[in-house]
Amino acid sequence: MKTDPRFPNLFILDHPLIQHKLTHMRDRTTSTRTFRELLREITLLMGYEITRDLPLASRAIETPMTPMQAPVIAGRKLAIVPVLRAGIGMSDGLLDLVPSARVGHIGVYRAADQRPVEYLVKLPDVEERVFILCDPMVATGYSAAHAADVLVARGVPASHILFLALVAAPEGVSVFAQKHPNIKLYVAALDERLDEHAYIVPGLGDAGDRLFGTK
Ligand code: URA
Repeated sequence: MKTDPRFPNLFILDHPLIQHKLTHMRDRTTSTRTFRELLREITLLMGYEITRDLPLASRAIETPMTPMQAPVIAGRKLAIVPVLRAGIGMSDGLLDLVPSARVGHIGVYRAADQRPVEYLVKLPDVEERVFILCDPMVATGYSAAHAADVLVARGVPASHILFLALVAAPEGVSVFAQKHPNIKLYVAALDERLDEHAYIVPGLGDAGDRLFGTK
């Protein structure tokens, strides 16, 4: 896992399998079907890395041979919250990893000034839960910061929130870090910059369109 001295809350997951799959996702000739499969696979690999620190408790079980105390994920339950719509492509991969997780949804769209407009919030109860917010692209950072605002406003502590993205622009990471310095942001790549339409360069284009085959 790589870090960047400019952004203390940013973690770049540089595992070779993650980087390899991301290259195929960036490639403009990759089909919708393959893009969707790769997003699910890459999220599963990233999810494996980011859940590394989940606390374990011990449960009494019996194997066919003997009783034993065996490790299980402790206390706090997980909730996966995709930011609509492209985040859906990531929640599927996370659910492969933790099938019993609760799933919330936060819907925002970008207005002409690039600011997020919220149109849907549906969340499980927040008590004692760790939340994984997911959205493939952190471009301006406004939607990511807004999604985290929604959880914080409901009383979820920053230490119980992780944000998982695929590609981020420095501009967006900076906006997110200013608003939520204590929420960890995990990405597969930190790209160069935003273009004049707030798309990430080199990026991978419009993640939602590539995922759902829309224009
Ligand atoms: N959203 C996308 O899907 N792609 C970008 O490059 C920026 C925002």
